[in-house]
Amino acid sequence: KAQEATISINSNGDNHIISRHIYGQFAEHLGRCIYDGFWVADTMKVAKKDRIRLDVVEALKKIKIPNLRWPGGCFADEYHWRDGIGLRNQRPKMVNTNWGGVTEDNSFGTHEFMELCSLLNAEPYIAGNVGSGTVEEMAKWVEYFNMPGESPMANLRRQNGRDKPWKVTFWGVGNESWGCGGNMTPDYYSNLYKRYATYARNYPGAPLKKIVSGASEGDYNWTEVCMKNIPRNQMWGLGLHYYTLPIRNWNGSKGSSTQFDEKQYFQTMKGTLFMEELLNKHAAIMDKYDKEKQVALVVDEWGIWTDVEPGTNPGFLYQQNSLRDALIAGTNLNIFNNHSDRVRMANLAQTVNVLQALILTKGRQMIVTPTYHVFDLYKVHHDAKYLPIQVTSPDYEMENVKITSVNASASRDSTGAIHISLVNINPNKNIPVRIALDGINWNSVTGQMITSAKVNDINTFEKPNTIQLAKFSGAKKEGNQLVVELPSKSVVVLELK
Ligand code: AHR
Repeated sequence: KAQEATISINSNGDNHIISRHIYGQFAEHLGRCIYDGFWVADTMKVAKKDRIRLDVVEALKKIKIPNLRWPGGCFADEYHWRDGIGLRNQRPKMVNTNWGGVTEDNSFGTHEFMELCSLLNAEPYIAGNVGSGTVEEMAKWVEYFNMPGESPMANLRRQNGRDKPWKVTFWGVGNESWGCGGNMTPDYYSNLYKRYATYARNYPGAPLKKIVSGASEGDYNWTEVCMKNIPRNQMWGLGLHYYTLPIRNWNGSKGSSTQFDEKQYFQTMKGTLFMEELLNKHAAIMDKYDKEKQVALVVDEWGIWTDVEPGTNPGFLYQQNSLRDALIAGTNLNIFNNHSDRVRMANLAQTVNVLQALILTKGRQMIVTPTYHVFDLYKVHHDAKYLPIQVTSPDYEMENVKITSVNASASRDSTGAIHISLVNINPNKNIPVRIALDGINWNSVTGQMITSAKVNDINTFEKPNTIQLAKFSGAKKEGNQLVVELPSKSVVVLELK
């Protein structure tokens, strides 16, 4: 097979946009994501609004995170929202049974979350409690968020200091209802979904976009049953959860976030590329019931899941983040962009201090991870017009198994600029890439990149900038073609004007 990758980008294909909500985030009451990540002690000497850390907010604003999913995850199906409103010192405590058995003091609740979203300029995506909550409880939470006039819940909201409704529209009906959200069968869940969804009402100016708790990985039957049983007008989206595990073992070691050899790296990248097959297969089932693609496929949990950092609470899921994770982020985001006719929302798990985090904190210190830089680079794709793309790439091979080295996606923004994001997951070889642009006129190319000497390089509190954005000057114009020398283990985004 040729040692050169070839890409062709077409301007007259599809006409949809790449929703910015593909770049969404997820913040659960888990470990140090909310508490000690976003929400810190009164005594912590960092810039804060109330107890929200502003350095974290500023970093996330820079990459324009479009939405934030909350309060879980598994936590969502044990969360009772009424415990998280009113005077903080009078809020009941609970045990976070899913995550380390720690005491949850409910100091971060509905109002605090909505304040965080407003500081971030991000849309809230609420996960309602189906597993252990009632239909009435969910219905009243919607009323509390969204009822403008006089009503028991709107009045209670006012009593707690907020007059106007927040107009929250993204609404998840349960989480992982096949597992921690209630261990249900898809038949049972889809019937229950209809009950919860019926009473989750639309208030003026806030039509709900209800999202069905979706399949785990390749559970195609879950998607089939939900699509068959739930009417289109009761669902805006259908979820899907898929994590990349270096060692696919949910009950034991998943592999270290920093100590891995090339064989494990290869396995991990092969595992992450499986997202493509999952999206194709789940989307094909959705197409059977929804040819017009009205229902969004919402990948509301994705990312790499490794062992926790040595010495940290195993229930807190705190892991480091390496160049490998940046390549995983770039690859998955390219896959989502290329399926954006169906995938209209996704949420990286999780924003701060948990799993594939964008940000790590330690006391007053804060660092951004290699994954953060990918989200920074890719923000040019937010709400940009999708450009159809074909990629042929040399293989990356190990022990007779082959995976593709180069993946890519492309879009045109509202100013007419074209952006092409390229990932070379091969850790050993630079790859020449020839890009043909059909029907696109352009004059100049600039670029930015992320790479490092080793795939397991990381940013630390002592050396926070080992991996950062750098200028890329390996692309040149040859006629109307673009010729790129794509470095090994790199993510590159080019801008053509
Ligand atoms: O993101 C961590 C956990 O992974 C979530 O709580 C759950 O939904 C999933 O299993």
